[in-house]
Amino acid sequence: MRYAYYTLAFVVVLLISVMGTRGLLSTRPPIQVFPDMDHQAKYKPQASSKFFADGRADRPIPAGTVPFGRNARQADPAFLGADEFHYAGKAADGSFARGFPVAVTQDLLAQGQGRYQIYCAPCHGTLGDGNGITKAYGMLVTPTYHDDRLRGLAEGEIFNTITHGKNTMMPYADKLSPDERWAVVAYVRALQRAHHATLDDVPAELRGGLK
Ligand code: HEC
Repeated sequence: MRYAYYTLAFVVVLLISVMGTRGLLSTRPPIQVFPDMDHQAKYKPQASSKFFADGRADRPIPAGTVPFGRNARQADPAFLGADEFHYAGKAADGSFARGFPVAVTQDLLAQGQGRYQIYCAPCHGTLGDGNGITKAYGMLVTPTYHDDRLRGLAEGEIFNTITHGKNTMMPYADKLSPDERWAVVAYVRALQRAHHATLDDVPAELRGGLK
């Protein structure tokens, strides 16, 4: 019988020690049996340091450092963001801009064609008619570029769609640099232009048997 009391007392002590203090607040650090790498020698932001001559743990940014990455524009508007047209496709009043911030050359179109065929043709088709290979696999929502609404889009809006995507179309900002996106916009315009071309667009000497 004595052992039964001992056992009961032991169980009560065990339960209270394991569960009894749950939820209590304490300012003391917890007992850590395995500290792993929780405690390391490190500087916290804005802390002081005896190591550096100026007494600061934060080091000044080396000369010539440029902001990099998706937040660079917000981080330093003077660096890139001054040109909203080039990097966001927007005019000063916030609307989508028409035209191009880069010179549209044969080289730009060739670059745009290459990027388009890699990144856009699987859905939009090599002709921009929405009949890419993904249609055969059930993606039926890809629009053609050749209807009046998409022909009427501002260049900046197409740039914005490439940058941020739209509904089921994913963004391409991580795959295409801003200049590459403008090259693709130019190529999309070329596809639209070609699709609506007439016999008058072909020089007389090249018409051959075309009617
Ligand atoms: C995974 C398939 C897919 C790929 C790849 C793709 N798109 Fe799209 N795109 C779509 C779909 C779907 C829509 C229709 C989105 C909607 O309006 O719901 C669309 C819409 C558009 C539109 C019309 C936006 C509007 O204002 O209605 C443009 C312009 C466009 N895409 C350009 C591109 C360009 C340029 C690329 C290559 C950089 C590209 N797309 C790559 C699927 C794709």
